[in-house]
Amino acid sequence: MHNPFDMVLFGGGGDLALRKLIPALYRAYREGSLAGDSRILPVCRRQENADQYIQTAHQALQQYLREGEYSESSWDGFSQLLRPIALDIAVPDDQWEHLADILGADPKRVRIFYLAIPPAVFGPCCENLSVKGLISENSRVVVEKPLGYNAQTSDEINSKIASYFPENNIFRIDHYLGKETVQNLLALRFSNVLFEHLWDAKSIDHIQISISETVGLEGRAGFYDETGALRDMVQNHLLQLLCLIAMESPNTMSAKNIRAEKIKVLEALRPLTGLDVDKNVVRGQYVAGEIDGQQVPGYLDELKGGVSATETFVAIQAHIDSWRWAGVPFYLRTGKRMEKRCAEIVVQYKNVSHHVYDESAGKVIPNRLVIRLQPEESIKLVLMAKKMDSLTTELQPAELNLTLSDTYDSFHSDAYKRLMLDAAANNSALFIHRDEVAAAWAWVDPIIEHWRETNNQPKDYTAGSWGPKESSELLAPSGRHWFNAK
Ligand code: BG6
Repeated sequence: MHNPFDMVLFGGGGDLALRKLIPALYRAYREGSLAGDSRILPVCRRQENADQYIQTAHQALQQYLREGEYSESSWDGFSQLLRPIALDIAVPDDQWEHLADILGADPKRVRIFYLAIPPAVFGPCCENLSVKGLISENSRVVVEKPLGYNAQTSDEINSKIASYFPENNIFRIDHYLGKETVQNLLALRFSNVLFEHLWDAKSIDHIQISISETVGLEGRAGFYDETGALRDMVQNHLLQLLCLIAMESPNTMSAKNIRAEKIKVLEALRPLTGLDVDKNVVRGQYVAGEIDGQQVPGYLDELKGGVSATETFVAIQAHIDSWRWAGVPFYLRTGKRMEKRCAEIVVQYKNVSHHVYDESAGKVIPNRLVIRLQPEESIKLVLMAKKMDSLTTELQPAELNLTLSDTYDSFHSDAYKRLMLDAAANNSALFIHRDEVAAAWAWVDPIIEHWRETNNQPKDYTAGSWGPKESSELLAPSGRHWFNAK
């Protein structure tokens, strides 16, 4: 059970709040992680009154909770914690005093200001909080991506927030870090002696990190078309996964130590500029196709007309210039409207140095560690074994499988719940430091810049496929191929 806190949800009526944040807080309440006198203050536009908001939140829970999670009695208790407020955050003389009255004057009580609002209003919102004296010593601010559009705009946003909150009180969310299996990556790497000696260029041939989605624009056409897959997924989620896979062991699991190691990885990423972008990065855009037997429209049709060169798919061959990873390619891939929804990391080992069997044994397939983050959570190790019941020494791959969802109760797992409770407990280990954001943009910006300068057009791929053929061609010259999720 956490100490009681007040969570002020700016953008309380928006999609993120209703789809993710309110359900996450409900789950926290239901499992007993919210102290009874914690309060949730969704801040909405003026026209909504408290009763209307509570009804909207009620409907959102019924719509977005998983089967079996909703119960009337939990809702009754949870709804008592909700104190909706109508307030226009950009207007200094609006109902801020009302918010101040509800929050009260106790400087020790934890206040969390969750900015589920467009970054353009982060500044005015923080300024009003400051002017109205609402930022107490125990106040924290939680911010969501997109944290800017490039290094410069991101720096502007970060500087703006920094004028009101010290870095220690700024919690930048990447919801991938709240996923159970993502945290398990750290446990796997740093709590087992098995892997450390086999976690470098001597043993590993290459690493693939793929996040494939079957969804398309999901009503976010305006945002997405301005953003594209590189900014939406690579700059944050994929690079964070890359950091966790590639970083050195932190001395402790403190936020400071973990972040320091992640920043080293980001800074060691070999820059991709000019012609290197063409050689190492593939962009794609989906055209109409079929997913799970259903016809789906192409990106431009979903966009409802017009021309767009925004990528809905990106594949990258990256290198980390460090002692540990010299010569090991990291293949990053993400796309919308792909064949299967899956987030997976494949660590492909090198082959044995000498083949001791004769030809009748068949080929030795190199070992492979496959860490699946979603939809199921599993860790699989592909080994070579002798074919059972065979008089010959024929070899075949065998799998060591750990299905994590069988061994722990994933029913309650929710990345946002975990991260909000961490923010309440002042634990920032799973949040992003300003320097990480800057380092990630510093790597991503030149790629976008090159696309812009060369008027690069994305390659078509059929919805329901694994991306454009050029994506396979990225690996083919080195005899490698993507491991597509089954
Ligand atoms: C978000 C992106 O950050 O992550 C979305 O903006 C994407 O475009 C989503 O769909 C994927 O998250 P998850 O948890 O569903 O894999």
